[in-house]
Amino acid sequence: MDEELYREHILDHYKNPRNKGALSDYSFKHKEYNPLCGDVLELFLRVDEKNRVAETGFEGHGCAISQASASLLTEYIKGKTIDELKTLTTQDILDMLGVPINDARMKCAMLSLKTLEQGLYAFSQ
Ligand code: FES
Repeated sequence: MDEELYREHILDHYKNPRNKGALSDYSFKHKEYNPLCGDVLELFLRVDEKNRVAETGFEGHGCAISQASASLLTEYIKGKTIDELKTLTTQDILDMLGVPINDARMKCAMLSLKTLEQGLYAFSQ
C-alpha cells in the first residue's frame, strides 16, 4: 500500500474502530494515558485455556493515531498467544500504521503497545 492508502486506512480505523468497547468478561484489563495530552486508552483481553487471545476490546479517546493504533493492535492480537504478545515491538506497531510517524506523534502511536505491555506485565506476575 502506498502512503495515501495507509492514511485512509488509519482514518478508517479512527472513525470505525474495530473492537471498540469494554469486555464484561476479561482475563485482564489495563488503562494508560498520555500525560502530555491526556489521551486515554483502556485495553481488555480475554485469554482462553490455551493462553490465546480469545477476545479483546478497548475504550478510550484521543487523537487519530492513538485510537487507530489501538484498533489495529486489537485486530492483530486476536488468536495470538501471551508469549507472542510479549514479543511485539515498536516496529510492529509502526508497520501496522504504515505511515511515517515523527517524534512528536511517537507517544500517540505507542500508547496501545504501552497499555498492552503494562497489562501483560501485571497479568503475568
Ligand atoms: Fe494524545 Fe495523540 S495527541 S495520544
